[in-house]
Amino acid sequence: MTQLNENNSESVAITDETLRGLVASDRVNRRIYLDQAIFDLEIDRIFGRAWLLVGHESQVPSSGDFFCTTLGRSPVVMVRAETGQVNVIHNRCGHRGAKVVNTLSGNNKRFRCMYHSWSYNLDGSLSSVPLRDGFPSDFDLKDRSRGMASLPCVEIYRGFVFAKMNASGPTLLEHLGDARFAMDEIADRSPVGELEVCGGMHRYYFKGNWKHQIENLADQYHAPFSHESSVTPDGYQFSRRPGEKGTRIKMLNKDGTPGTESKGQWWFPWGHNACGAQTTDGDQGGEAFDRYRSELERLKGVEQARDLLTHKRHLAFFYPNFDLHILAQAIRVVRPISVNLTEVQIFPIKLKGAPEQMFSDTVRLLNLTHSCSSLAQTDDVEAFERIQTGLQGRSGEWIRIQRAIDRDVPDKERGGMLGPQFTEAAIRNQHTAWVKYMADWQ
Ligand code: FES
Ligand SMILES: [Fe+2]
Repeated sequence: MTQLNENNSESVAITDETLRGLVASDRVNRRIYLDQAIFDLEIDRIFGRAWLLVGHESQVPSSGDFFCTTLGRSPVVMVRAETGQVNVIHNRCGHRGAKVVNTLSGNNKRFRCMYHSWSYNLDGSLSSVPLRDGFPSDFDLKDRSRGMASLPCVEIYRGFVFAKMNASGPTLLEHLGDARFAMDEIADRSPVGELEVCGGMHRYYFKGNWKHQIENLADQYHAPFSHESSVTPDGYQFSRRPGEKGTRIKMLNKDGTPGTESKGQWWFPWGHNACGAQTTDGDQGGEAFDRYRSELERLKGVEQARDLLTHKRHLAFFYPNFDLHILAQAIRVVRPISVNLTEVQIFPIKLKGAPEQMFSDTVRLLNLTHSCSSLAQTDDVEAFERIQTGLQGRSGEWIRIQRAIDRDVPDKERGGMLGPQFTEAAIRNQHTAWVKYMADWQ
């Protein structure tokens, strides 16, 4: 029996039953990281069904501003229309299919395909076609099926723009559930309650499956060990902010045991998770930060300002492609390319209304933590490639993910389920979502 995948190539059918059999409550089969046919199904069924982060609306502040990205294998354009609306349209010409927009971002009144010069309005509808008299008489520029198609669902939460490829499934709010409070946490730290994504992009690739990266975002267990080289002799990681001790993460005790395992790890339906914060900005110092804190106190009162400055989450991950790194103030987008190649893009976030110097510090911090030559990210990338290589070994089919199993409790305050910091529960939760998208989609 054969089936056509998204590439319209033939492959041996993989049944839902087979897919379900690759994930158990405490283990996954190595095949989900190695099999190109399964990867192709992931593009169809996870990236073709889930709400995906496209970007942030501040990346397209004015009419005609656009930003290009890829959702699954589909190139798309996020564009601000004359009406102010943010549209997400397929970056594919309605004529013979060429990718129309070929720069990362910019501003245009219209998009023009370089092949035969069909032009498109900012909502993707056709604006003009050269030599139209040769086409059938019922050819109508207003015919939406001849334009750059719109994605069927686009929604925005706190400025973060999400889209999905199909009309069925949960609304964005249903999909995000209580995990969305992480977006509130970072947006509320802006004196005006808004974020801006405007500082360029880091990008790295690694020769490994995309799930190594997203599992890493639900894995605090590795940090004290994998990032040991970034820990100074007093057991703290390098300073992440200008200022004082509270901005540094206690990684190792004198006896080499982890510095903390108390902050918790949350997980939510649909594969999302959040890691507890290990630092606070409350005792951060510096001229710019002091000005920012005074402004927050003036606007919100001392109590609320202190609460806002107390990190609650180190990061939050929204399955399957969006990491909101709250401590580093960055968006990280995971883009699967093939079964053993993944691209990751990182965008610094500015707190609108805060001193400019704080944003410069954020960008500088990302160079240290998340660039491809950083003090910490390189450790993770090395681990991902070693996993991809190690899994080729035929010493067993299963990878166990068992730490702190059955130790989660419901969290009435923040929602979701809460386990200890070094639990592997949030990774197990990602694989539960994987089965739901891959085999149990209704
Ligand atoms: S393919 Fe775009 S105009 Fe022909
Ligand atoms: Fe890491």
